[in-house]
Amino acid sequence: MGTNKIKIMHEENLSGYSENIIKISQNLKHFGRMNDPTSVASIKGPCGDEMEFYLIINNGIIEDVKFYTDGCIATKACGSMAARFAFGKTIEEVLSISPQKIIESLKGLPKDHCHCSILAVSTLYRAIADYLLKK
Ligand code: FES
Repeated sequence: MGTNKIKIMHEENLSGYSENIIKISQNLKHFGRMNDPTSVASIKGPCGDEMEFYLIINNGIIEDVKFYTDGCIATKACGSMAARFAFGKTIEEVLSISPQKIIESLKGLPKDHCHCSILAVSTLYRAIADYLLKK
């Protein structure tokens, strides 16, 4: 059992989440922080959960991406899915990622967790904006 899995199992009651979300949250891709990103953004959601995105961008391509959140399983799964979509893509391609796309890729989210997908995508977008505004 990986460290992320153990941490999540101890932190939260898993009831209400689909098997798919639990599976993704137990095998988080791109989870963590980055020392020298090209751009970075963090947003605190209305629920108090915080999301951070770190990007390495070269010639308009997202060469590396990491996200970090202290939020719930749904938040972690949404961040991981947004990071997976962004990895290796152009900025233009990343700008086609939407909260709805995240929800569909997770095969649904509990209604009271739809804002987790908005938090993930908004933070990713803000990191892109950070890059574009610095150029
Ligand atoms: Fe607030 Fe997920 S519960 S972002």
